[in-house]
Amino acid sequence: MATRGILLASLVLSCLIQACYGAVLFSSLKKTLQVTTSTKQGVLQSGEDKVTVTWGLNQSLPAGTDSDYKTIEVTLCYAPISQKDRAWRKTEDHLNKDKTCQFKMVERPYNKSLQALDWIIERDVPTATYFVRAYAFNADGHEVAYGQSTNDQKTTNLFEVQAISGRHVSLDIASVCFSAFSVVSLAFFFFIEKRKGKTTQQK
Ligand SMILES: *[C@@H]1O[C@H](CO)[C@@H](O)[C@H](O)[C@H]1NC(C)=O
Ligand SMILES: *[C@@H]1O[C@H](CO)[C@@H](O)[C@H](O)[C@H]1NC(C)=O
Repeated sequence: MATRGILLASLVLSCLIQACYGAVLFSSLKKTLQVTTSTKQGVLQSGEDKVTVTWGLNQSLPAGTDSDYKTIEVTLCYAPISQKDRAWRKTEDHLNKDKTCQFKMVERPYNKSLQALDWIIERDVPTATYFVRAYAFNADGHEVAYGQSTNDQKTTNLFEVQAISGRHVSLDIASVCFSAFSVVSLAFFFFIEKRKGKTTQQK
């Protein structure tokens, strides 16, 4: 009975947290930023090759469009080609739950003029096909606008990254082992606590 109460309480709590902080939907953002990428030809190697990114306000939009932009976050995002058996790489409309754009390249104060960045692909970027998306945040830290280097269907200007061989596999295994380890240690501590409880009761 108590367990059920706790479960219910945490469910309600997580719903409340979602309602307060998860309110920003990707579909509600305005596409006002222009983002371009350029890379060398062919497959890029993580930890070695670079992506040159530029971003700025679409100049054909009226002045004042960007009046509430405070910071810009530029992110590396998985493209659909790599989604075949990885449903979790699909864009989730609730931005706080979205895992498509999980690699942050840079965060900078908003600047009206065109910005550029040479980004060396980080070593932990897995083998996949990517594009770049920039988000504009307001003073409250909420996404208000975006722009991306590919079209809406995510089919143009994609680039392919090859992870340092075997790296993504070993990382995946490491994370599986880590979570297994956490479960085992939790179970272990639970067991110890229970035993302690019993011994004190016996006294
Ligand atoms: C820039 O804005 C204009 C006018 O809204 C639009 O037609 C054009 O597609 C936009 N360009 C980009 C790259 O988003
Ligand atoms: C905005 O960007 C331009 C060009 O990169 C730079 O010269 C300028 O100092 C930046 N302004 C601010 C306020 O950061």
